[in-house]
Amino acid sequence: MEVVLDRKRREFLTTVAHGGVCMLCSGAFASVLTGCNEEDNPVAFDEPVIDINKETALQNVGGAVKKRISSVNGGSVIIVVRTGETTFVALSAICTHQGSEVGLPDKDVITCPNHGSRFNATNGSVINGPATSPLPKFTATYDANYNTVTIG
Ligand code: FES
Repeated sequence: MEVVLDRKRREFLTTVAHGGVCMLCSGAFASVLTGCNEEDNPVAFDEPVIDINKETALQNVGGAVKKRISSVNGGSVIIVVRTGETTFVALSAICTHQGSEVGLPDKDVITCPNHGSRFNATNGSVINGPATSPLPKFTATYDANYNTVTIG
């Protein structure tokens, strides 16, 4: 009789422990757990306000970074480019040809690695196809008082 109870207690504890882990996987703690299913892990989004003092790549004109902000571009990757001392542009990093992620700009040109479309990094316009539509552009507002750029 005692053996049966021990087995049932073990089964119960195993079930509870497994359920608890699954709840953690689907919750806010998923990113700190290992072994969770990838689709249970949330995407890590960046803040819409970028502190230029902390973003080395944006401290010089021509610099650029990729970001993923939940409220901008449907949460897909964007590229933030410093186009002047106080001007920035934010462009979708999703190629308008077939949806590949484009690279960071090189000499004001953004290139798609898939079929070679090239875009102007200062405004998203197409330089050469096969893409025919520009990279969508989002608001990028510089605040000189705080040296920040707010996206979206
Ligand atoms: S997906 Fe970018 S050029 Fe085709």
